[in-house]
Amino acid sequence: MTERLPQLEDLPPLAGRSVLVRADFNVPFITDAEGRRRISDEFRIREALPTLTYLINHRARVTVCTHLGRPEGRYVPELNVAPIREYLKEIIPGVTLMENLRFDPGEEANDPEFLDHLLRHFDYYVNDAFGVSHRPHASVIGPPSKVPSAAGRLLAREVEVLSNLLDGPARPFVAIVGGAKVTDKLAVLKALAPKVDTLIVGGGMAYTFHRAMGHEIGNSLLDEKQLDACRALLAGPTRIVLPVDSIAINFATEEVRSVGLDVPEGFAGLDIGPKSAAIFAEVIAGAKTVLWNGPMGVFEDERFAAGTRAVAEAVADCDGFTVVGGGDSVAAVNLMGLESRIDHVSTGGGASLEYIEQGDLCGIAALRNSYED
Ligand code: 3PG
Repeated sequence: MTERLPQLEDLPPLAGRSVLVRADFNVPFITDAEGRRRISDEFRIREALPTLTYLINHRARVTVCTHLGRPEGRYVPELNVAPIREYLKEIIPGVTLMENLRFDPGEEANDPEFLDHLLRHFDYYVNDAFGVSHRPHASVIGPPSKVPSAAGRLLAREVEVLSNLLDGPARPFVAIVGGAKVTDKLAVLKALAPKVDTLIVGGGMAYTFHRAMGHEIGNSLLDEKQLDACRALLAGPTRIVLPVDSIAINFATEEVRSVGLDVPEGFAGLDIGPKSAAIFAEVIAGAKTVLWNGPMGVFEDERFAAGTRAVAEAVADCDGFTVVGGGDSVAAVNLMGLESRIDHVSTGGGASLEYIEQGDLCGIAALRNSYED
């Protein structure tokens, strides 16, 4: 046993051997005018290419497996992997893709029989599924104890970047955390607070902080149970920067209004306002390390997109090392065409948050523990 994460180079000779690659091809879909399912963002699939290319170039026989959605152990036609198989064939021929792992209840239950069946034709295993490495599922944690195993390029890079962020980030280190629910992100905020110099809190969750400070928040999102936790964070030593204005809507009249720190009765804040965007951008501009997770507002609606756009642009413009994680903020960065100006765009949503919280994931630990020098 060792602390080292085994890499592709650590696998025994690959020529002619069968390799099972666990990928996270849990990608979003849209249905086109003819009713066909089409992948709307291939980011996670493209990111697996370096690993697949390495294995093919070393003359391995490569089979990929993934989950898609949450079919809960039964066959769901709209969650089959056919469109992903087609796309994969276009970008990297010679790779086989198995059907959605979660069609079998054994995957999520980590059933030993399912694992044996899954591995029956394979000599080696590669985990390149960072986005699901926090799930104790059969295909994630099982194989390393059975066959020689390694981390793929995507997984290795995610671990390197996120562990550097936690271990020795260049300072000032600024984290921007947004999204709707404080409950979901509270553990991450607590884990980040002692590590960062400044914590910027935006999105729907900021209103619970505002309420904790005694401000009026109208009909904005409120997570009553987290008020004390927010107060504790505000009283702590870390500098917390909150929005000072909002773009708010009155759902009854559809009136959209720019408001200050207090949101009037009948209105709900759905985006940070221009003053907040300017303050956030200035803090981000001075950072040497930036971690962004979670949008500043309901950016899918153009009326509430300016705050998220301003933060995305500030992160892209920042000269420091920049990392964006979490499905929604990654989608925003891609939508705005800024991904090439971010140093690391994480393929993991929940996984990157759990890594930040706990400094490890069960899928990564399984790989480390499998390795023998
Ligand atoms: C994700 O999209 O975050 C990963 O693919 C994990 O999916 P899950 O939350 O359904 O396990």
